Amino acid sequence: MKIAWGISGAGHLLRESVEVMEKLKEKHEIKVFLSRAGEEVARMYGVLKRIGDFPIVRESKQGYAFPSCGAFNLGKFDVFIISPATSNTVAKIRLGIADSLLSCCATQALKSKVPLILVPTDSKPIIETKAPDGQVFKIYVRKIDLEHLEALKKEGTIIVEHPYELENILERLL
Ligand SMILES: Cc1cc2nc3c(=O)[nH]c(=O)nc-3n(C[C@H](O)[C@H](O)[C@H](O)COP(=O)(O)O)c2cc1C
Repeated sequence: MKIAWGISGAGHLLRESVEVMEKLKEKHEIKVFLSRAGEEVARMYGVLKRIGDFPIVRESKQGYAFPSCGAFNLGKFDVFIISPATSNTVAKIRLGIADSLLSCCATQALKSKVPLILVPTDSKPIIETKAPDGQVFKIYVRKIDLEHLEALKKEGTIIVEHPYELENILERLL
């Protein structure tokens, strides 16, 4: 499969997402779309170099119109995965805002019937996560963020709790 893989600025599930990307690379063609915040956070969690081993579109090198998102309209990808997906990017996609690399790509994917899979960081009421230095802390997810996920699900977006589930989901899409 031709996979477009969005990485947003989330620390939660970031290392696990990179691990899964590296595994799926053996079977699939993957191009990474990296948000500006994603680049900063990946550097903090020590995985930016590994992400740089993939063909990559960096938001930090783009203008405001995101021509690279046109690839979704032109049928260049079979699926768009965003893992991890920040609450910011999820909210924009749900509300139809397309002013960042990932929200613009997701909008074009949806408008061109390309399946969209999100692995949101804020997927249940309480999340336990780790700071870049390994310190564990809790996030109390807002109701609005959970509502966004429910609304996107109703529209046909596939919502996944953990990147480790992605391989099975892709098998089903084949
Ligand atoms: C170290 C670090 C970790 C972060 N982790 C998360 C996260 O797990 N989930 C989240 O929703 N935002 C997280 N953020 C905040 C986002 O990076 C911020 O909202 C950013 O604007 C998101 O932009 P993007 O959605 O375009 O990538 C984190 C920020 C930092 C500095």
